[in-house]
Amino acid sequence: MKISKIVLENYRNIENLTAEFDDVNIIWGENAQGKTNLTEAIYLFTGAHSFRGNKDKELIMFGKNRSRLYLEFYGNNREQNAEIEIEKRKKVKLNGIAKKSATALGDEIKTVIFSPVHLSMVKDGPSERRKFIDSALCQLKSNYRNLLKNYNKALEQRNYILKNSESLHQTEATLEIWDMSLAKSGAKIIYQRMKYIEALAPYLKDIFKGLSGGSEEIELKYIGATEFTDDINDIENKLYDTLRTHIKTDIINHTTTKGPHRDDIEILINSKSVKLYGSQGQQRSCVLAMKLAEASLLKEKTGIEPVALLDDVMSELDEKRQDYILNHIKNLQVFITCCDKETILRLKKGKTFHIENGKIVP
Ligand SMILES: Nc1ncnc2c1ncn2[C@@H]1O[C@H](COP(=O)(O)OP(=O)(O)O)[C@@H](O)[C@H]1O
Ligand SMILES: [Mg+2]
Repeated sequence: MKISKIVLENYRNIENLTAEFDDVNIIWGENAQGKTNLTEAIYLFTGAHSFRGNKDKELIMFGKNRSRLYLEFYGNNREQNAEIEIEKRKKVKLNGIAKKSATALGDEIKTVIFSPVHLSMVKDGPSERRKFIDSALCQLKSNYRNLLKNYNKALEQRNYILKNSESLHQTEATLEIWDMSLAKSGAKIIYQRMKYIEALAPYLKDIFKGLSGGSEEIELKYIGATEFTDDINDIENKLYDTLRTHIKTDIINHTTTKGPHRDDIEILINSKSVKLYGSQGQQRSCVLAMKLAEASLLKEKTGIEPVALLDDVMSELDEKRQDYILNHIKNLQVFITCCDKETILRLKKGKTFHIENGKIVP
């Protein structure tokens, strides 16, 4: 897919902006001028929340009560457009038709995004890694979001029962039906995630080799509540047993301590945990490689070419790695932000947008 035009009104520090895009777009300017804001605005059209973790109303320009975003893009062999209005709640339209939920945009608009906040994928706890795999799967499989929703609904019910538990015996009986339901949807989630890691591996290894100049091998490992095979019934049975044997612990903790909502993905370089032993450059390269591999796999499985949004990607990387990144994404439309446009123009031709105080200036 390709984004041709964006129009923003009262979005963060951007009061009014219209931009028409090319295949390679370099958004440059000093700090705090609106480069990430513009990237984030594009990203919102995937139907997701801000990658910076803001609430919708925080995206509206200070002192205004409504923000409007409009996007023209080419996807699924046709010209399309999308609108987002942020007021009390977010309202979206796709090709002029109002949609119930913003996530509907995600069926048409796909991106892979790298921003420095995504380094938490390597540095922080498991939830960031689950987010990576879940959002990749949401872009890949239309039913995965519902699967997560169903699981989380059952999980909420189970946790409610645990919080109000009076006796172990009675709780065990009440939970049985929820544990069956959790094991069923949870097993599907675990299975899809394991399959995703398997499918991602060849792309990831290849990209990481390229980035590291051939000296380093990357591997992802799914870490579940217990050792799972890739048989979905077996996963369901094991998950059910795990849930049942942990009821006592769960009552003490007032919450469900085992299941896919607690699982992790271990990232290894040359068989060593990158979280524990990786250098800054290795950690950055890992996240980038995972994002680029995600794009390659999405393209391979769906034929859809996501748009690559690379916010502040080049800092701290040597010219060889920068060059590799840019050449690796030659088939995708790309948006890159940086402070100095020369860095990127040296490596690749592109349309430049100089941002100052929320405006495009010459
Ligand atoms: N809701 C908002 N209204 C107005 N300005 C905002 C809002 N949210 C953030 N900003 C401003 O946007 C600027 C940061 O923009 P950003 O795109 O992150 O900068 P950069 O160009 O460094 O990527 C900051 O000056 C911040 O105060
Ligand atoms: Mg920024």
